Amino acid sequence: MGGVAGGRRAAGGSAVKGLLGIAGAVGMLALAGGGWMAINANDAQACEECKGKYQVGDKKSGYLYSTPETQAMQDDDFQNQGMLWVERGRALFTQVEGEAGKSCASCHEKPEKLRGAYPVYPKYDEKTKQLINIEQRINRCRTEQMKAKPWKWESDELLSMTALVGFVSRGMPVNVKVDGPAKPFFEKGKAFYFQRRGQLDMACKNCHIDNPGKMIRADLLSEGRAGGNFPVYRLKWQKLGSLHRRFRGCNKQVRAKPYKAGSPEYVNLELYVKWRSNGLPVEVPGVRR
Ligand code: HEC
Ligand code: HEC
Repeated sequence: MGGVAGGRRAAGGSAVKGLLGIAGAVGMLALAGGGWMAINANDAQACEECKGKYQVGDKKSGYLYSTPETQAMQDDDFQNQGMLWVERGRALFTQVEGEAGKSCASCHEKPEKLRGAYPVYPKYDEKTKQLINIEQRINRCRTEQMKAKPWKWESDELLSMTALVGFVSRGMPVNVKVDGPAKPFFEKGKAFYFQRRGQLDMACKNCHIDNPGKMIRADLLSEGRAGGNFPVYRLKWQKLGSLHRRFRGCNKQVRAKPYKAGSPEYVNLELYVKWRSNGLPVEVPGVRR
């Protein structure tokens, strides 16, 4: 680990592009009494070898927008706090629950057998004719296969199992399908991403497509390509949190009413966000500020 940080240097990039967008945002935020700052950016902070891993074409993982300290925390499984949840997931995997008297292991043997599932969710589900994400897939097994209660959103149990199911796919490229029966859901998710909302009248796009690499408050804006790193350990939360929790936070930042975690709106949005990350590696559990 030692010495890695010293080798990092800022990747060149779009420091000026989109400055107008940020100026607009600052105006609006000032209006709303928010203390946002537009500081001309240091762009993604990446060492050359991490760029190879976390950048595909022009897509950059939020990892490359993190500080070297946060990156080092993610890179080292002993420092990565998210690994505590992965280990809890392992314990839950063999725990018998529900009327069927089964554990996950009764059918899936070991977590590694689920390698490959995480990168392809949300996915169209033939049975319910719905789009379901990985948390919902896990809970489906609990209710239908184990005859157990579904785990609550944002519960330690669901976060732990989701982290484990993500972890066993580490390094695999995110690869969601958006054609065929998934298409209408994808289109809705996309529309959500581009729709301005909230008191600040801003869309996801205004920050994550127009202004990555700019500082907003104390945060360096990333491209929001978070298909591979959730659930994520956030230093701010001091715990693991789901992608939908992040969506709620981003909705609240612009003073828009957040949707419920697990709502169809957010599962559609998740498909769009994950599609923007197609090709980037699974890096669960990610660590972010
Ligand atoms: C009684 C057997 C059984 C139990 C117990 C069970 N599952 Fe499953 N699971 C299945 C079957 C069967 C499928 C495939 C269903 C399908 O293809 O529609 C599946 C699918 C999955 C998938 C999606 C795999 C993919 O590639 O799409 C995940 C993830 C999963 N299970 C996780 C779990 C977890 C976590 C638990 C424990 C909380 C669990 N399962 C308990 C039978 C079980
Ligand atoms: C006013 C600016 C702003 C808007 C609008 C906004 N976000 Fe964010 N978002 C942020 C900031 C700041 C962060 C934390 C730094 C970063 O990763 O970009 C963040 C982080 C994220 C992340 C986590 C990235 C990672 O690598 O962990 C995701 C995913 C995300 N936003 C999605 C969205 C979605 C979806 C929307 C629309 C519902 C949205 N954001 C709207 C400012 C915004």
